[in-house]
Amino acid sequence: MKVALLTGGGDCPGLNAVIRAVVRTIHNAGGECIGLLEGWRGAITGNHIPLKAIDTDEIIARGGTILGSSRTNPYKDPTNVQKLVDTFAKLELSALVAIGGDDTLGVAMRLYEERKLPVVGVPKTIDNDLSCTDFTFGFDTSINIVMEAADRLKTTAESHRRIMVIETMGRDAGWIACFAGIATAADFTLVPEQEVNLDQMCDVLKQRRADGKAYGLIIVSEGAKLPREGLVTSSAEIDDFGHVRLGGVGQAIADEIKRRTGIETRATTLGHMQRGGPPSAYDRVLATRLGIHAARLVINGQFGHMVALRGLQIVHVPLSEAVGTLRTLDLEFMREAEEFSK
Ligand code: F6P
Repeated sequence: MKVALLTGGGDCPGLNAVIRAVVRTIHNAGGECIGLLEGWRGAITGNHIPLKAIDTDEIIARGGTILGSSRTNPYKDPTNVQKLVDTFAKLELSALVAIGGDDTLGVAMRLYEERKLPVVGVPKTIDNDLSCTDFTFGFDTSINIVMEAADRLKTTAESHRRIMVIETMGRDAGWIACFAGIATAADFTLVPEQEVNLDQMCDVLKQRRADGKAYGLIIVSEGAKLPREGLVTSSAEIDDFGHVRLGGVGQAIADEIKRRTGIETRATTLGHMQRGGPPSAYDRVLATRLGIHAARLVINGQFGHMVALRGLQIVHVPLSEAVGTLRTLDLEFMREAEEFSK
């Protein structure tokens, strides 16, 4: 049994923990693993490295991915799909474990359905926006990074009697902003799933100031839409999967707060800080469990599936059920957050 692994899309803490777990579980079953480098690009070119259990034992604590990643989409050029299929034959692979978000897993599903390639998917993203799984690894680390940043920004905001606006990642889903908002006692949280109510937000900020609170904290998700301008983008470029680069809404919100309340306001965009560094304990455990179960699917010949977290159990679902539908924020969490924004 020879199993290839790849990591595609934006990286996130915990990818190396999955790699370690797959490699160890396949090793225990008498098989061997290789790593295709830089996502689907490595599957197209055949660029790969050996992955031995002994060499991957320590990588659980390391952020990023030892395999590199890219947003390469083989389906942009049909000749690349054939090259990918050829790589499979040339390397004599028994299976491929694709670790990625909706785009990467969408490619995995098509390869399984259209080319009958034996693939298994592992969901990852800091955005926590994948269907059929309760949480994705990377998310917990990410909200802890936002929390730590907010704790620091609050003390300087308090000294200067300022309002701080923190812009988080998350693309079209507000999970990171909402959970970080609850964890940091934000005065107001803005997410893509809800209309941004600037009047209400500024009323809350003015009231808090009148009540004696020396600073303010707003968390805004990069995908939150401004009432008039809509989505704020930081680049006109789109990637292989058709996504624009978001960013800038935090500064726009800060300017608006200053204009409406007269209170000095600053914006901080946390950006890729939220994806870097070592994974939290929760993410290491979740990623390890998903890796073990993905390897077990390979060993049992159950292809075309993705492993997922349901409650406390690791289950598996057909890739066709899991991909294609963004799992936006469950607004029940916003109702809870809003108890503190009145
Ligand atoms: O999907 C993960 C994510 O970090 C999003 O939250 C963010 O919008 C995007 O990736 C950033 O992508 P890139 O690393 O290509 O700038």
